[in-house]
Amino acid sequence: MATFRGNTLDFFSHSPEQTRRLGARLGQLLQPGDLILISGPLGAGKTLFVQGIAEGLGVREHVRSPTFTLVNEYHSGRIPLYHVDLYRLNGHADLATVGVEEYLERADGVVVVEWPERAPAWFPLAALHVRLEHVDDQKRRVVMEGKGERFVALVRAFKRSAFGAA
Ligand SMILES: Nc1ncnc2c1ncn2[C@@H]1O[C@H](COP(=O)(O)OP(=O)(O)OP(=O)(O)O)[C@@H](O)[C@H]1O
Ligand SMILES: [Mg+2]
Repeated sequence: MATFRGNTLDFFSHSPEQTRRLGARLGQLLQPGDLILISGPLGAGKTLFVQGIAEGLGVREHVRSPTFTLVNEYHSGRIPLYHVDLYRLNGHADLATVGVEEYLERADGVVVVEWPERAPAWFPLAALHVRLEHVDDQKRRVVMEGKGERFVALVRAFKRSAFGAA
């Protein structure tokens, strides 16, 4: 069901609902200061996965992708969720105006980023990388890689939570 090599967990989601549930599993494990970078093409399921994360954090509001502000904050959960979507990032704009550095420095909540590839080399090395790929209409491949001690541990904890101890 899932393969685990090095610090990388590789598995499939067979439906939008499963992607959301997997996100919720992850959300339950998150701690203040965590950084999750979610990449993948349009319609891969990134926002759906973030909606799951929000659910797992206990966020009560409906989560939708931030547009002009590039960041949405949710404070109704166990810890704050900062949802960043860089799809509309203007390459010439000052990235600092997005304020992600401040969120990361404050480290009081979880920072989740869609389209991190729009700002390569801009994020700290330590992060949980999640890549979503289309397989077919309903099926997505999910590749989760932890970089840095905390995020290696997080991938392992997620594996146990989502797929059991084996
Ligand atoms: N297994 C699956 N997991 C996630 N989404 C799926 C799956 N199968 C089908 N879908 C559909 O794919 C779409 C994913 O939309 P979503 O907004 O989450 O993508 P996204 O990666 O955030 O796209 P964007 O880059 O535009 O922000 C939804 O319409 C969802 O119903
Ligand atoms: Mg999206």
